[in-house]
Amino acid sequence: MWACGISRLARQLQAPGRAQNFDRHGIEDEAAIEEEEAEVDRAAGSVAGSAATEAGVVVAAEDHEAASAAIEVDEGVHEVVEAHHAVAEVATEVDEEEREAVAEVLAQRVDRELHPGVFVARGKEDLLVTKNLTPGEAVYGEKRISIDTPAPVSGDAATNGDSAPMATKTEYRVWNPFRSKLAAGILGGLEDIHMKPGSKVLYLGAASGTSVSHVADIVGPTGTVFAVEFSHRSGRDLINMATHRTNVIPIIEDARHPLKYRMLVSMVDCIFADVAQPDQARIVGLNAHQFLKVGGGVVVSIKANCIDSTAPPEQVFAREVGKLREERIKPKEQLTLEPFERDHAMVVGVYQRSG
Ligand SMILES: C[S@@+](CC[C@H](N)C(=O)[O-])C[C@H]1O[C@@H](n2cnc3c(N)ncnc32)[C@H](O)[C@@H]1O
Repeated sequence: MWACGISRLARQLQAPGRAQNFDRHGIEDEAAIEEEEAEVDRAAGSVAGSAATEAGVVVAAEDHEAASAAIEVDEGVHEVVEAHHAVAEVATEVDEEEREAVAEVLAQRVDRELHPGVFVARGKEDLLVTKNLTPGEAVYGEKRISIDTPAPVSGDAATNGDSAPMATKTEYRVWNPFRSKLAAGILGGLEDIHMKPGSKVLYLGAASGTSVSHVADIVGPTGTVFAVEFSHRSGRDLINMATHRTNVIPIIEDARHPLKYRMLVSMVDCIFADVAQPDQARIVGLNAHQFLKVGGGVVVSIKANCIDSTAPPEQVFAREVGKLREERIKPKEQLTLEPFERDHAMVVGVYQRSG
């Protein structure tokens, strides 16, 4: 059923959002899918209008247990939200001095890896962070934190002149969920982001590269991010970022024409899309058929009013999921991005073999 559900991870993180796991709900055959979607359409008005908490968590009225959990969660996420407000500063342009400013040493510890390459730094505030691929440099004025890693005890430890083991520092960059839909989806409880160290990711709608830079941190030096953006203005910042991060290939092209950049892109493990266009599902399909491995992941951010500003968001999301299915992308998870973005959903699917 489409009733409110909060994933295990969301509970742990105390993040709200309305999560749906397609497999968990046993949506297997097309008839069941159609019935489910019809039910969503019928329910959309009442669900969208049902009990909404202050931060915009929508709770199906019949799910009392989930409702109280969501309200508790809503209070909990407030701290993470506040922490990001306070700590992740918004900056549009970064000069070299700022880029190289010394990372703040905070009394934080990085004790949880939410996904490979994505961590929570715990301290005065809990922050979402990625390990900085280029330590000593910020990309867009984001905060950095440097954390001591205790000296290893084995013989291959980093050593000083007296061969005593030395502690090392690891630098992380704070990832603000108010500025990145992927970060918002992760805090909302996505179970699989289909990217990890070594992955090849095709990123559609790269803008100036702020979120792309965190994806570059996640995939690390053995991975690659192919970042497609058609705006030349944003593209300039993207190219500049990529000169510092050599695992990013900037591509200034229209994502509707993947053949134009086929010489630059290899087969990928994941397509992330945030183009905010009415034909986004088709754009994702065109790129998936060209570049995505069978079994590869698709992570799509859907902004309801970019697709249809007259229909209820739930209805728009359901229709987009249907379009992704037509492109052989089997949906696995869906969640809303409140409280970070209004009327946005993130859908994760897996690319299927044809025929
Ligand atoms: C919502 S913004 C992306 C924000 C970015 N993902 C981030 O988190 O920083 C959408 C971007 O997609 C780009 N875009 C829209 N349609 C596109 C297309 N057909 N091909 C390439 N880029 C496109 C826009 O120029 C815009 O920069």
